[in-house]
Amino acid sequence: MKRIDFLKSLGFSTIAIATGESFLSSCMHMDVSPDISSVGDFITILKIPSEYALSSVLKAQTSQDTLLSKSKVNVLGYGENGLLGPTIKAQKGQYISLPFQNNLAEDTNIHWHGLVIPAEMDGHPDHMIKPNANFDFQFSVNQPAGLNWYHPHMHQHTGEQVTKGLSGLFIVESREEKALNLPRGSHEIPLIIQDKRFNTDGTIRHNPSRMEVMSGYLGDHVLVNGTNKPFVEVATGFYRFRVLNGSSARIYNLALSNNADFYLIGSDGGILPQVETLKSLMFAPAERADILIDFSNLKVGEKIYLKSEKFNGMGNSQGTQTFDILSFNVIKTETDTFKMPSVLLPLDKLSAASKTRQFKLTMGMMAMGGGMNKINGKTFEASRIDETVNLGNTEIWEFDNSTGNEPHPMHIHGVQFQVKSRSGGRNSIMAQEKGWKDTVLVAPNEKVKVQMTFTQKGKFLVHCHNLEHEDDGMMLNFEVN
Ligand code: C2O
Ligand code: CU
Ligand code: CU
Repeated sequence: MKRIDFLKSLGFSTIAIATGESFLSSCMHMDVSPDISSVGDFITILKIPSEYALSSVLKAQTSQDTLLSKSKVNVLGYGENGLLGPTIKAQKGQYISLPFQNNLAEDTNIHWHGLVIPAEMDGHPDHMIKPNANFDFQFSVNQPAGLNWYHPHMHQHTGEQVTKGLSGLFIVESREEKALNLPRGSHEIPLIIQDKRFNTDGTIRHNPSRMEVMSGYLGDHVLVNGTNKPFVEVATGFYRFRVLNGSSARIYNLALSNNADFYLIGSDGGILPQVETLKSLMFAPAERADILIDFSNLKVGEKIYLKSEKFNGMGNSQGTQTFDILSFNVIKTETDTFKMPSVLLPLDKLSAASKTRQFKLTMGMMAMGGGMNKINGKTFEASRIDETVNLGNTEIWEFDNSTGNEPHPMHIHGVQFQVKSRSGGRNSIMAQEKGWKDTVLVAPNEKVKVQMTFTQKGKFLVHCHNLEHEDDGMMLNFEVN
């Protein structure tokens, strides 16, 4: 394709092309971030996903849900209850069977994001489940307690299916974690944060432009557990929030509206070794945060908000706005007996790495048959093995975004890793990176090293979890054998 035709295909007018700015820099200067709508108050009670009943069938299907208004619209989910899916809970060591039925009119599958399980169960795009077909996912859960999640994983359609509602939580529990006596019951609340865009009929819209395939598909409403402008009632004590950034591309800079401290006790792969006391937390797509908030200094009738503050350095379309996400309404006093543990759970030391691999993250012109977002100059090819790893080996993988303009939350299947270093950009290891991780935010100018031991045989994926980048082909295969 000639350059001018390529630019026209991206929606540039001939005049814009004639200004002489290079293609990429003109993209970078275009603000494609829709503002988060400030219309309406936080007066809808937060929905809480139901709990998965053991051995019931997870059905990917269309059902109805109320999203923006009182009237119901068609959405996707895992079951009859509207958007999202039930929260699955498993004990460390448990063997679990999850019958799945595809009631969609298109292919789908399930990936168990964060779980370290055999490749045949991991939801590779090779393993699609046809309409009306079913599959029994079965595996044992042999990893620390933590918040994981599940979602479809087909090449080129993950963004659409996730955006329209297919996601759910998978919580691993353990005795070690229970012994910490963290807030539980009504004081343990899951929060799936997702920004979405809507059609005029109230259904969820997914129509990224070529530009948004580069910058990410951002929404103009922020839903929590599928609830627009939600509130949750709390008492004057400690609460544990199990938070997933289930958004396609949006990074949140989480903070409390009264500027109070909050306490990070866990991230993707489990509990941190120590409590991290924070005022704000940069929180990228697919990351999880286990957060304690203390409401004991508030009075009945007071409200504070979980919000996202402005930030810089994450590309031009991210961080342009401060907005509220969820209102905490204090409704009763209580005497809380929770004591913050001084240490949490120890983090296992990894063996020394026997190999280092580089993953260069770039954006460029579309190759024939491929996308614009690349890893090591390549876009995804389902049958090509890009890296071969020896079972049992410990390696360092370096994600290099030193020449990029967009943030990339990089995710590796089949492992939990530890973040070893970050150079350039933010130049340090972040609070949530002090424990087990499966997704790490690699901002523009940054190089990030992660280290892990490969314990599962077979074909797995490494990819960017900006879902438009992933669908565009920013994903490689690696095989462990
Ligand atoms: Cu959450 Cu490969 O994905
Ligand atoms: Cu994953
Ligand atoms: Cu990316």
